[in-house]
Amino acid sequence: MSSLLLARNVRRAISVLGGGSGGINALSGVRPVARRFVIDMSYSAHFMDFKGSSIPSSMKKLVVNKLSPNFREAVSVQTVAVPTPGDADLLVRNRFAGVNASDVNYAAGRYDPSVKPPFDIGFEGIGEVVGLGLSASSRYTVGDAVAYFGSGAFAEYTVVPAKESVPVPAVRPEFLTLLVSGATAYIALKRLGDLAKGETVLVTAAAGGTGQFAVQFAKQAGCHVIGTCSSDEKAGFLKSIGCDRPINYTTEDLAKTLKKEYPQGVDVVYESVGGSVLEIAVKCLANKGRLIVIGFISGYQTASGIPDFRGSTLPVKLLQKSASIRGFMLPHFVSDYREALGSMMQMFAKGKLVCEVDHGDLAQEGRFVGLESVFRAVDYMYAGKNLGKVVVEVFPPPVSNKL
Ligand SMILES: NC(=O)c1ccc[n+]([C@@H]2O[C@H](COP(=O)([O-])OP(=O)(O)OC[C@H]3O[C@@H](n4cnc5c(N)ncnc54)[C@H](OP(=O)(O)O)[C@@H]3O)[C@@H](O)[C@H]2O)c1
Repeated sequence: MSSLLLARNVRRAISVLGGGSGGINALSGVRPVARRFVIDMSYSAHFMDFKGSSIPSSMKKLVVNKLSPNFREAVSVQTVAVPTPGDADLLVRNRFAGVNASDVNYAAGRYDPSVKPPFDIGFEGIGEVVGLGLSASSRYTVGDAVAYFGSGAFAEYTVVPAKESVPVPAVRPEFLTLLVSGATAYIALKRLGDLAKGETVLVTAAAGGTGQFAVQFAKQAGCHVIGTCSSDEKAGFLKSIGCDRPINYTTEDLAKTLKKEYPQGVDVVYESVGGSVLEIAVKCLANKGRLIVIGFISGYQTASGIPDFRGSTLPVKLLQKSASIRGFMLPHFVSDYREALGSMMQMFAKGKLVCEVDHGDLAQEGRFVGLESVFRAVDYMYAGKNLGKVVVEVFPPPVSNKL
């Protein structure tokens, strides 16, 4: 799946949501804040300051200059002109940008080998509209809160086509967690998990960006949920979101614990780590078990991007249990996206969904603020330190804005 195709497919899904005043606000049942409608009649005047804060002429953004699975080697900060939105575009000042495990794959050029450096990076952002084109002004106005999924979110300002942006009730990082991480868990479990009440579900990297949602959705389906993680703090968090059996694999042997406590095996695995963890997960499948391949992060920082897997006995293992392995890529499930996002927004509004965000407050050099902190945030995630979705604060809130 190429990055462009991936972004295009998800953007198509987002546009199905109907960017503009209906969209997510309508889906979520959250009342939008009172808005000042501005119809910009002058195309030449489509730059409009947001509540008195001026738009500078230059900005910083991250650019992939060299393909490498070493993020720091591949990516650098550049100072460039603030882009001008076209007729149907929004200029978004990014308040928050989401860090994803696959930023490393993207910087290594694994998504679309035909795309050569330099290119922009960063999958998702949320912020305020600070400028817009004439057509875009029929649905948006300066000051609107929007989220989006697409390349180029690791920048202070990003131009986003209006029809591909998601109106949100407020610029809160929690909404950012739903676009990719939440949607992946929601749709993968719904479409490929075939969850039944009373079944056992194993989630790997359970306390991370997407794992936290898999735990909650499996629990909501009435399942017994096991979650792997690397610290007692994460295990405590997993308990707090309904995980029945957190396994801190740094203090407990994962394979032995599963064998001892779940002799009948587990019915569904939401698997993100790959390599030896995938081998253990295949081994512990119950009869008619379903293993969903969400990712294989343990290999992403290697030259091939793929962790070792001893798979020659795989057909035997699957056959003996009538088990199956299913791959999941979010852009292949565009038709499920609208329902997934709407449903998650409603759950969040009703306090029925925890969207845990990790801003790096406990990271060695402190909170992830400013674009330069993306490098630290990627290191932090790959060191397994994050609890929840890793989010970088690109800009502090505007002075006059109470969001
Ligand atoms: N298929 C899709 O459409 C899709 C969409 C989104 C994400 N994903 C996949 O979902 C997985 C999680 O992504 P995310 O962005 O949400 O990240 P994340 O879970 O927030 O962070 C990664 C976590 O993986 C765990 N981990 C286990 N072994 C690791 C290793 N060898 N190296 C680094 N981390 C390791 C760490 O948690 P512990 O230390 O607690 O184990 C770490 O906190 C990735 O595989 C990603 O590619 C797939």
